[in-house]
Amino acid sequence: MDLDAIRAAARLLEAGRLVGMPTETVYGLAADADNPDAVAAIFAAKGRPSNHPVIVHVARDADLSHWAAELPLEATQLIAAFWPGPLTLILKRAPRVPAAVTGGQDSVGLRCPSHPVAQALLAEFRGGQGGLAAPSANRFGRVSPTSAQHVIDEFGAPGTGALAAVLDGGQSDVGIESTIIDLSRLDSVGPALLRPGGISAQQIEAVLGRPLAQPDRVAPRVSGSLDAHYAPATPVALVASSELGQIVDALQAMGRRAVTLRCDGDAPAYAHALYAKLRALDREGADLILVEQPPQEAAWQGVNDRLRRAAFDSVGVVERLLG
Ligand code: TXA
Ligand code: MG
Repeated sequence: MDLDAIRAAARLLEAGRLVGMPTETVYGLAADADNPDAVAAIFAAKGRPSNHPVIVHVARDADLSHWAAELPLEATQLIAAFWPGPLTLILKRAPRVPAAVTGGQDSVGLRCPSHPVAQALLAEFRGGQGGLAAPSANRFGRVSPTSAQHVIDEFGAPGTGALAAVLDGGQSDVGIESTIIDLSRLDSVGPALLRPGGISAQQIEAVLGRPLAQPDRVAPRVSGSLDAHYAPATPVALVASSELGQIVDALQAMGRRAVTLRCDGDAPAYAHALYAKLRALDREGADLILVEQPPQEAAWQGVNDRLRRAAFDSVGVVERLLG
C-alpha cells in the first residue's frame, strides 16, 4: 500500500477536493461528507441530480451517532455480521448531516468498506473521525468502475478536471455495488432490500431472523433503482441462451454486428468481472451487446438486477435492429 499517496489523498479530501477511492465493491468518487460544497462537486462531476442521496463511508471504529439518529437492534446485528464489507444501511439521520448528503431525506446511507486502501484512507482522513460521501465513480447512468483506470476513463487524469487524485487499489473484488438495506422505516415496512448485491437477501434474513420487504420504487430514492441505469453506450439486450445464436445470425444477415457476453462461472466470479467486460464490449463499437441470461437463482440476484437495468429495453432494442 502506498501510504504517502493515501496521506496525500486524505489532505486533498480535507481541503474539499474529490478523490477516486477503491472499495471491494466498485470505485467511489469520494468527498468530505461534512463539507456541502465538496459533496456538491461530486454531483456536478457525475452529472447526477442533486436530490439523490449519497452513501457515507466510515472507518471501522467510527462513532455512528455522528451520522445516525439511532442504531436499532437490526443495525447492530447486521454491522456485527457484515462490516466491514459490501453492505450499506439506511438509517434515520442525525440532524447535523448535510442535506447535500441525504438528498433532503430524513435518512442517511452508511457503509464501512473492507478494502484495505479504503480503510487506510478513512483512518487517515480527519484522524478516522470523518465520513466520506462516495457514489460510484462513474458519470450518471453509466457502468460503475472497478479499476483506477476506469475512474480515469470517466473523469480524465487526476488534476486535469474535477478529480484531484485516484488511489489504485487494484481490481475491485466483489465487482457490483453494495447490498442496500433500509432500516429507516422499521415501524411501517420493516427491514427492506433496496438494492441486491454481494451479500444476499438470504444472508441478511438469516442474521435478522425475519424476511426482508422487497425493493420498492417509491421512497427513499435510490438512483440505482432507476430503470435505465448501469448501462453502456451500446444498446444491451438480455436473452435466453437458447435464443442467442439465432439472434446473432439474424443480425448478421441484416448487416448488424452483435458482441456477446456468455454466462460462465459462479455468481461471485461473474460479478467480479462483469463491469470490466461490459466496458470492453462497449469499446468494440458494435450495434448491440447480447448478454446471455444467467440462472434465475438467489445467488445471482445482484447480477440479474444490474443486467436487467443495463438491458432495460431488450425486446425493443432487438426489434429495432432487426427492422
Ligand atoms: O458499493 C457501493 O455502494 C458503492 C461504493 C463506492 O461504496 N457506492 C455506490 O454509490 O454504489 P451510488 O451512489 O452509486 O449508489 C448508492 C445508492 C444510491 O442509489 C443512493 O440513492 C442510495 O444508495 N442511497 C444513499 N443514501 C440513501 C438514503 N438515505 N436513502 C435511500 N437511498 C440512499
Ligand atoms: Mg452508482
